[in-house]
Amino acid sequence: MDMGIAGRKAIINGASAGMGKQAALALAREGVNLVISARGQARVEQVARDIASETGVEVIPVAADHSTDEGRAKILAACPAPDILVATCSPPPMSPDFREIDDAAWYSTLEISMLSPIRFIRAVIDGMTERRWGRIVNIATVAAKYPLELRVLSGAPRAALINYTGALARSVAQYNVTLNNVMPGMFHTAFTETQLNERAKNNGTTYEEEVRKFVEAFRIPAGRFGDSVDVGAVVCMFCSEYAGYMTGQSIVMDGGTNISTF
Ligand SMILES: NC(=O)c1ccc[n+]([C@@H]2O[C@H](COP(=O)([O-])OP(=O)(O)OC[C@H]3O[C@@H](n4cnc5c(N)ncnc54)[C@H](OP(=O)(O)O)[C@@H]3O)[C@@H](O)[C@H]2O)c1
Repeated sequence: MDMGIAGRKAIINGASAGMGKQAALALAREGVNLVISARGQARVEQVARDIASETGVEVIPVAADHSTDEGRAKILAACPAPDILVATCSPPPMSPDFREIDDAAWYSTLEISMLSPIRFIRAVIDGMTERRWGRIVNIATVAAKYPLELRVLSGAPRAALINYTGALARSVAQYNVTLNNVMPGMFHTAFTETQLNERAKNNGTTYEEEVRKFVEAFRIPAGRFGDSVDVGAVVCMFCSEYAGYMTGQSIVMDGGTNISTF
């Protein structure tokens, strides 16, 4: 299906790996020109080359930390008037004991996963409303909606971000500008691999065995972790021309772990 967004311009923050990379690729396959950011220069440049050579769109890599003023200025200078803004980051650390989360961890996570997307939204949303077209998507976490001690550092800031985007969605819907969120559960990404490989090393098991234990412990009905390609496709759906009447929404992608009627 043609999503009707060929020729649009997008900023994807956190796009050199995982779900951000897959969102960038999905948008590029629809003909969207990209500015992609990440802190690690070599990786973001390589991903930009790969996406550009596969899809033929323009992909500008920006090595920058999007949680800093300097990093944000660098990214916005490369694309001052985006049609599409997608925000993601590396998952915040797990917190088996909430008592061990100190203020430094809270402030750092708030900067990266809540204030950074809010500041980007503030920087681009007026331009979108003036141009009467805009799509903003945050890749957040299922823990924002279904709290879990282990993921409180990830869930709580994103619950606030989702609340914020919902409030803004009402204000700008009349200008064909939408704000939506994707809330993933467990997916195979670099973060998950690092965490579970460490457990496998400590337990004398394998990554696959640790995934199986996790699936059992958290009773994931799909019986597996997700594939970040699927998140990229859902982000792209939210960014499509045809999603203009869908705003302030948050989609859970967690293999059926948390189900509610509405
Ligand atoms: N993986 C899961 O199972 C899972 C589950 C629930 C929710 N989520 C959420 O899904 C989102 C994506 O997770 P993921 O697993 O795809 O992450 P990932 O594989 O670690 O990729 C994160 C990307 O963001 C970049 N990044 C991180 N911090 C950045 C910063 N401050 N400035 C610029 N770029 C930055 C990373 O590159 P650099 O390191 O080079 O900067 C990388 O390109 C996160 O919001 C996470 O909380 C993930």
